[in-house]
Amino acid sequence: MNNSAPIGIFDSGFGGLTVFKSIAQKLPEYDYIYLGDNARSPYGDHSFETVYQYTFECVEWLFKQGCELVILACNTASAKALRNIQQLDLPKKYPNRRVLGVIRPTAEVIGNFTDQKHIGVMGTRGTITSNSYPIEIGHFFPEVKVHQQSCPMWVPLIENGEHLGVGADYFVTKYTTELLQKSEHIDCILLACTHYPLLIPKITKFLPSTVKLLTQGDIVADSLDDYLKRHPEMESKLAKNNQRRFYTSGDVATFDQHAAVFLGEQISAQKMGL
Ligand code: DGL
Repeated sequence: MNNSAPIGIFDSGFGGLTVFKSIAQKLPEYDYIYLGDNARSPYGDHSFETVYQYTFECVEWLFKQGCELVILACNTASAKALRNIQQLDLPKKYPNRRVLGVIRPTAEVIGNFTDQKHIGVMGTRGTITSNSYPIEIGHFFPEVKVHQQSCPMWVPLIENGEHLGVGADYFVTKYTTELLQKSEHIDCILLACTHYPLLIPKITKFLPSTVKLLTQGDIVADSLDDYLKRHPEMESKLAKNNQRRFYTSGDVATFDQHAAVFLGEQISAQKMGL
């Protein structure tokens, strides 16, 4: 297969669209297939085994659509499924295809955003309990102290379109206050869930102006750009017709309506049948 593979972008639902947006802005020439597993989201509270099974099913579906490279634009899937997929499934079944996550590229640069060397990480319960961030950040910035906060109510608020409503204020203050109480030295907070950028207008209202808020879209886009430059054998397989296709395992009309909010443009998704 030469020069015909789209890049697959996967998330449990809509959140990965925030990463897709940055990637497509940075690397507009490639073809992309976005897949949101909305029928089975949120993934945040599912077990390790379930997230792994769902994620791998979706990755295999993207492979069947011709993708040679898939980005897990989902922290929960990156935390719970990526290692097994990279170390067990790909070598056995798909030795020439690649799956990349969002945690490592973030960990590689995050130490550059803190002066105090204390960062806060907000994510789903799955991402936080996996401890993936403290472990990965420890490899690159051992001097940085990582304070974690799980925010289990944020994805349901966003997926239900309630993130800008007054009801969201309670859970935004609750989790940001709980995190900031963990250390007075936190000067940078990573939104380690690709859904959370939609809550930025609310979060910034409750944060001291000395605390930076960091999202992952541009970090992951820069990292992918760098990866493609270092891997011409993969880059040469990618289609460059500027095409974008969107699939959801859930309801198509609902996906189109929410996707417009995440992307700032109207799209027309198709139903993915597993
Ligand atoms: N957007 C996802 C993440 O980055 C997952 C949200 C969920 O399905 O709970 O973790």
